[in-house]
Amino acid sequence: MHSSTEIHNYIIDRLIGNGAFSEVYLAVHKLIGTKVAIKIINYERIGEEDLICLIREITIHLQLEHPNIAFMYEFFIESPYVYIVMEYVTGGTLLDHINGKRNIAENTVRNYLIDILSSLFYLHRGRSVSHRDIKPQNILISNEGALKLIDFGFSNCINSKGFDSFVGTPGFTAPEIIDDGYYDESCDIFSLGVCIYSMIAGHFPFDLQNTNSERLLSQIGELEIPPTVSPELQRLIRMMIDPNPSTRLTLDQILCFPWVQEVVPKNDRFSYFLNPIDIRFFLSMESLNMAHRKPVLDYKKSIIESLNTLGFDKKKALDEIRRGIVSSESAAYFMLSKNRVIVEDPIPQIVPKKSSSSSRHIALPYAKTKAIPRAKKPIILPSLSGDSIQKPTSRTQIPNKKGKQIQ
Ligand SMILES: Nc1ncnc2c1ncn2[C@@H]1O[C@H](COP(=O)(O)OP(=O)(O)OP(=O)(O)O)[C@@H](O)[C@H]1O
Ligand SMILES: [Mg+2]
Repeated sequence: MHSSTEIHNYIIDRLIGNGAFSEVYLAVHKLIGTKVAIKIINYERIGEEDLICLIREITIHLQLEHPNIAFMYEFFIESPYVYIVMEYVTGGTLLDHINGKRNIAENTVRNYLIDILSSLFYLHRGRSVSHRDIKPQNILISNEGALKLIDFGFSNCINSKGFDSFVGTPGFTAPEIIDDGYYDESCDIFSLGVCIYSMIAGHFPFDLQNTNSERLLSQIGELEIPPTVSPELQRLIRMMIDPNPSTRLTLDQILCFPWVQEVVPKNDRFSYFLNPIDIRFFLSMESLNMAHRKPVLDYKKSIIESLNTLGFDKKKALDEIRRGIVSSESAAYFMLSKNRVIVEDPIPQIVPKKSSSSSRHIALPYAKTKAIPRAKKPIILPSLSGDSIQKPTSRTQIPNKKGKQIQ
């Protein structure tokens, strides 16, 4: 991969992150100039269960729109790769931030908690989705200092029966996930509690490779919180990492907690109408052609005109935006509307590509691409260097339980 590589309307800049099966690149839209993060996955190299996770990741993420969730502009498939194009969040991961600061001031932690709490209200209550992999590596910091959730690779729709598959990341995962039996979306509260602890203590509370629930329970019981932390915040953390999901704090209880109420958050960040996501039909990569986002009925005419100026087919763009179709036109619409950029003059020399089939795609050297240089990261505390834990061989980072379907 080098700087001149182009994929559809994007010019790839550099590798900015990677995961078990993905590589994430910074890229720029060559007509609009918007910087994006493109997550690239070779879907032919992953097993059946991981493919299900990938399909869910795309279909769920596509339907999320919240200030504390990195926005997904579009995805496209060029066998054997799938490209997920997202809002580029500039400030690095929460893990980098914790490593750089050792511990974060309580007032900042409160703002961070409120950001993720708001995204969880939206996910759980507005979209009926549980993230199931909340950890500092999956939380990014924006230019303005707001937190944004990423990586919906383990997310799933909440159902009345609950979940029973092993997912998540050891060290952040709630004990009920490790235990046999069913669990619900309150697992996200436990993981958020672990993130809050890590922010104020400067190290992770639990072993990163432990998948033994008894050991985790004993570590929860013995957890020491630095005495410099205010008693109220200590109480909040303990009640979030309560090993019993039925007594663990709920989203509403966290919001009403005195320490959180010291800065009364705006109510509109915590009330959402339920509008669940239906992912039942998405069972194969081919079925992703049906994936759509929320239709935009109150579209901005000035942005449609800007698309026209840039060389996009105005009629097609309008139709796709109103029907929630995922395409380069609708992606460009969202980039322009998020950036509030209105193009005044035509840019005659650049013509957007019409379709993916005609694209001058340069195959990405997936296996050969160098991994992000970990050593350059400011890893100060060995226990916080979550990236140094052995890379899982599967997205299901905790070995899947025998005979259990991932769900
Ligand atoms: N929208 C984005 N903006 C900036 N950086 C990003 C963005 N999305 C991902 N990254 C970077 O890429 C890394 C990996 O992304 P992500 O967590 O989505 O991949 P993954 O394959 O699911 O990872 P893992 O399997 O390790 O959880 C992130 O930790 C972050 O450093
Ligand atoms: Mg991740």
